[in-house]
Amino acid sequence: MSNPFSPSLLWQLADEHGTPLWVYDAGTIRARIAQLKAFDTIRFAQKANSNIHVLQLMRAQGVKVDSVSRGEILRALAAGFKPGFGEPSDIVFTADVMDEATLATVVEHQVPVNAGSIDMLHQLAKASPGHHVWLRINPGFGHGHSNKTNTGGEHSKHGIWHTDLQAALDAIRAGGLVLAGLHMHIGSGVDYGHLQEVCGAMVKLVEATKQAGHDLHAISAGGGLSIPYRTGDAVIDTAHYHGLWDAARKQAEAIVGHALGLEIEPGRFLVAESGVLLGTVRATKNEGSNHFVLVDTGFNELMRPAMYGSFHAMEVLRRDGRSLPAQDAVVAGPLCESGDVFTQGDGGVVLPRPLAGASVGDLLVIHDTGAYGASMSSNYNTRPLAAEVLVDAGKGRLIRRRQTVEELLALELGL
Ligand code: LLP
Repeated sequence: MSNPFSPSLLWQLADEHGTPLWVYDAGTIRARIAQLKAFDTIRFAQKANSNIHVLQLMRAQGVKVDSVSRGEILRALAAGFKPGFGEPSDIVFTADVMDEATLATVVEHQVPVNAGSIDMLHQLAKASPGHHVWLRINPGFGHGHSNKTNTGGEHSKHGIWHTDLQAALDAIRAGGLVLAGLHMHIGSGVDYGHLQEVCGAMVKLVEATKQAGHDLHAISAGGGLSIPYRTGDAVIDTAHYHGLWDAARKQAEAIVGHALGLEIEPGRFLVAESGVLLGTVRATKNEGSNHFVLVDTGFNELMRPAMYGSFHAMEVLRRDGRSLPAQDAVVAGPLCESGDVFTQGDGGVVLPRPLAGASVGDLLVIHDTGAYGASMSSNYNTRPLAAEVLVDAGKGRLIRRRQTVEELLALELGL
């Protein structure tokens, strides 16, 4: 668990902006970027946190961006990332499928496409001969903190199946596209055994690409770097991680006969530990043997516990700074749905958690929520999206104002 903020700052921000509130620490994000500087290109998987101000912070540190939708491409452009086929390009669009509006956008802004299906290559070639492409390959195995975040193997919809590499290369040649690089992302949550397997698979793909008479400029290690959500969870050794990939890159360079760029594409690692979600305790009650702490934030804000059974450390802040005796509590939100519980395991089993005793008016801090928090929020139960604040050098700045219910209703009224 990471805790970048003092209790007094969190109280001050909650008083100023209300709750639920997302708070991110710029210094933590910069520190994580610095840990990966050995890679030629750090490409932020913005799906983890796509706030334009967070993207601007990334850009100021020399980080590039991966976009997975038309909306994310437009966010990247709004944050100042440049269109075009640079080497490396500022933006890469990664997907397995592309609608007409997205196709038009990647063509207009000359955004390289990291294709996860051969059909995408055909569609792109027709609309934009000479377009730069990456191939996202599914190596036939994957790994993830949940089966929902495993993106390799035959049960995953992601990537071009490894035995179809030749067909993909043929589509590139026939369509007059330009191969920029090879990419693999087998899931979220890394262990080093898998990493060596992925590096080995990448070298084989580079070899097959060369044999097919194609050149390329870069390889991408994908993302998936884990973070210690629980005390005692492994902390990733970024030097070791880079070392394994650098060795693979050198083997690949020997095969192609020239230098290759090495990209990494993390989402969670760069932002998860920078963020907290603040909620206010609105009620406490007992239901049989369970003590409930009910807060004003739910899975429409933070979906990870309900969706994956993910663990997030939580803490109660009292305004007077005193602490009450800890007790086993079920922490739950305001949504009209039984699964709106932050203390749950896989399959929705409720796991009461020892927590400092909470009373109405206390602040609940949910840690490590800078990744896949706000970006996965919804308007379920007609709840407006929460505000976001970025703290830099101890000073908080509003980077997204709270949505209003009136804005939601306006989408449906007066059509
Ligand atoms: N690159 C690609 C092509 C991806 O699909 C992903 C994540 C990443 C990079 C970044 O992965 P990361 O470094 O963040 O593990 N909502 C889930 C995670 C889904 C990840 C989907 N793809 C969660 O909350 O854990």
